[in-house]
Amino acid sequence: MKLLAVIAALSVVKRIGGTWSPCCEALKSTSLRDQVFDPNSTQYRQSIESYWSQDVRLHPTCIVQPYSPADVSQAVSTLVQANDHRPHCQFAVRSGGHSTVPGANNIHPGVTLDLSNLNATAYDPATSTASIGPGAHWDSVYSILFQHGVAVSGGRASNVGVGGLVTGGGNSFFAAQYGLVCDTVVNFEIVLADGRIINANRTSHADLWKALKGGSNNFGVVTRIDLEVFQKDQFWGGVVSYDNHTMPQQASALVNFTNHIVEDPYASLIVMLQYTANADTNLVTNALHYTEPVAYPDAFDAFYDMSNVSDTTRFDTLGAFTDELNQAADFHNLFLTLTFKNDARVIQYAADLQNGIIEDAKAYVKSTNYTLNTVFQPFPALFGKIGLYLIDWSWENEADNEFFNDRGYRVMQEVQACAERLRAEYRFIYLNYAGPGQNPLQSYGEDNLIELTRVAKKYDPHGVFQTQVPGGFKISQA
Ligand SMILES: Cc1cc2nc3c(=O)[nH]c(=O)nc-3n(C[C@H](O)[C@H](O)[C@H](O)COP(=O)(O)OP(=O)(O)OC[C@H]3O[C@@H](n4cnc5c(N)ncnc54)[C@H](O)[C@@H]3O)c2cc1C
Ligand SMILES: *[C@@H]1O[C@H](CO)[C@@H](O)[C@H](O)[C@H]1NC(C)=O
Ligand SMILES: *[C@@H]1O[C@H](CO)[C@@H](O)[C@H](O)[C@H]1NC(C)=O
Ligand SMILES: *[C@@H]1O[C@H](CO)[C@@H](O)[C@H](O)[C@H]1NC(C)=O
Ligand SMILES: *[C@@H]1O[C@H](CO)[C@@H](O)[C@H](O)[C@H]1NC(C)=O
Ligand SMILES: *[C@@H]1O[C@H](CO)[C@@H](O)[C@H](O)[C@H]1NC(C)=O
Ligand SMILES: *[C@@H]1O[C@H](CO)[C@@H](O)[C@H](O)[C@H]1NC(C)=O
Ligand SMILES: *[C@@H]1O[C@H](CO)[C@@H](O)[C@H](O)[C@H]1NC(C)=O
Repeated sequence: MKLLAVIAALSVVKRIGGTWSPCCEALKSTSLRDQVFDPNSTQYRQSIESYWSQDVRLHPTCIVQPYSPADVSQAVSTLVQANDHRPHCQFAVRSGGHSTVPGANNIHPGVTLDLSNLNATAYDPATSTASIGPGAHWDSVYSILFQHGVAVSGGRASNVGVGGLVTGGGNSFFAAQYGLVCDTVVNFEIVLADGRIINANRTSHADLWKALKGGSNNFGVVTRIDLEVFQKDQFWGGVVSYDNHTMPQQASALVNFTNHIVEDPYASLIVMLQYTANADTNLVTNALHYTEPVAYPDAFDAFYDMSNVSDTTRFDTLGAFTDELNQAADFHNLFLTLTFKNDARVIQYAADLQNGIIEDAKAYVKSTNYTLNTVFQPFPALFGKIGLYLIDWSWENEADNEFFNDRGYRVMQEVQACAERLRAEYRFIYLNYAGPGQNPLQSYGEDNLIELTRVAKKYDPHGVFQTQVPGGFKISQA
C-alpha cells in the first residue's frame, strides 16, 4: 500500500459527483417527495450527525429516506433514469453508518440513500429465522429477539448497523460455532439496478446470495436480511483489564486460545491493547465471552492466571454485553486491518509498535482525548488458525488526522513486514475493518473475484453499482 495512493483516493472521494440538483429534483417529483431532505432540514442534520465517525459526515446534495423496499426501488430507478438524461446522479447507500471509510456510506456531492427507517426485526418461529431491516442497529435486534428467548449472530457493539456488517462478513461472539454472520443468512431481499425487488437465497438466485456474503454494496441495495435464529438465554462474559506489562503473557495465551478454539466453540475472545490519553492509561482490555451459562470456563484459564485491575464478568444478556462494547461516537477514526498466522511474535511486535507511538503523540497532537486501540481476535475456524489484527484509533481534533493516518499506515506496513519476515503473513483483509486504500475484495483470491465480477455483470449489466455508486470497496477496482 502506498500512502500517496491513499491520499489520492481520499481526494477522489471529495471530487466525485458532478451536476446533482436535477437528481434531487427527480426524486422530489416522485411519490418519495416527502422523504427527500435538503441541507436545511432537521432530518438532514440528524442523519449526518448519526454517522459514528466525524470523518464520514460528508454533505450530500440531498438525503432520501425510504420506508419500504418499494421506496428503495423507486429511488434507485429514479436515480438511474435521471442519470441517463443528465450524467452523474451518483449516490451512496447507508445503513447503520458505522463504516469509517469516507465515501462508503455517504457522498458529496450526490444523493445518500439512508436506510435508517428500514429497521424492523420480525421473528418467525415456524422457520426459525428473523427478518431484519438493514438500517437496524443490533441493540434493537437483540432486545426484540430476547423477548422470544432467541438470538442471532451479529455485531458485538450494539450501536453498529446490520446492513454493512452482514454484507461485509460479520464477526460475532458465535463465530467459532456458526461461522461469520453472513454464513447464517437464509435470504437477502435486494433491489437491483433496474428497480426489481428479488430474493437471493439457496434456491433462488443462489449466485447472488453467495456473492452478497462479503461482496458489500457491489450488487444492489439489500432491503431485508433473514438470519437463522437459535435459542439463547443469558450467558457469561464481560470486560477484564490488566496492566500492560502482561502483554507478552497475553500474546501467548491468545495464541493458545486460538489454537484450541475448535475444541470449545462457545468461547469468544478479543484482546485489546488500549492507550487512553485523557486518563493516560495503557491497559490490556479483554472481552471474554462464553455463550453458554457457565462461569469461568476452562477456555480462559490462562487469563485467570494474570492479575487484573478491573473485571465485569457476570451472567447477562447478549444485548447488555454488546452495549458494554460500544465505542464513543463523534471522534475522528482510523480503522486498518490485517490477518496473520497465529503467532505471538507478530502480536507482540504490533503491540510494541503502538506503544512506540504514545510519546510521539503526546508531543505532537492537539487532541487531549484520543484512544489508541490495537485489537487482536481469532478469526473463525473455517479460515484456519488465523489472527485478525485491527488498528482502531480515535481522536477528537481534526488537525490530528494527518498525524494519526500517517502513523497508522506506517504501523500497519511494519506489522505486515514483520509477518512476512516470520513467514506468518496471510492474504485475507477483512472488509468491515479495512481502511481507505486497502483492497479486501482482491484478498478474497482470484477465483472468488472472477465469480464476484460475473455475478455483478449478471445482476447489474450497466455497472450502476460500480460507477454510479462509487463509494466503498468496488469489484471493478479490486
Ligand atoms: C464500534 C464498532 C464495533 C464494531 N464491531 C464489529 C463486530 O463486532 N463485528 C464485525 O464484523 N464488525 C464490527 N464493526 C465493523 C462493522 O461491521 C462495519 O463498520 C460495518 O460497515 C457497519 O455496518 P453499518 O450498517 O453500520 O454500515 P454503513 O456504514 O452504513 O455501511 C458500510 C458499507 O456497507 C454498504 N451497505 C450498507 N448497507 C447496505 C445495504 N443494505 N445494501 C448494500 N450495501 C450496503 C454501504 O454502502 C457501505 O459501503 C464494528 C465497527 C465499529 C465502529
Ligand atoms: C437553505 O438556507 C439558505 C439560507 O437560509 C438559503 O439561501 C438556501 O436557499 C436554502 N436552501 C434550500 C435548498 O432550501
Ligand atoms: C426505527 O427507526 C425509527 C426512526 O428512527 C425509530 O423511531 C424506531 O424506534 C426504530 N425502531 C426500532 C425497532 O429500532
Ligand atoms: C427464495 O426465493 C424465492 C423466490 O423469491 C422465494 O419464493 C423463497 O421463499 C425464498 N426462500 C427463502 C428461504 O426465503
Ligand atoms: C507498557 O506501556 C508503556 C508505555 O505506556 C511502555 O513503555 C512499555 O514498554 C509497555 N510494556 C510492555 C510490556 O509492553
Ligand atoms: C492451551 O489451551 C489448552 C486448551 O484450553 C489447555 O488445555 C492448555 O493447558 C493450554 N496450554 C498452555 C501452555 O497454556
Ligand atoms: C480479576 O481479579 C479478581 C481479584 O483478584 C479475581 O477475583 C477475579 O477472578 C479476576 N477475574 C478474572 C476474569 O480473571
Ligand atoms: C473523552 O472521550 C470519552 C470517550 O472515549 C468520553 O466519554 C469523554 O467524555 C471525553 N472527554 C472529553 C473531555 O471530551
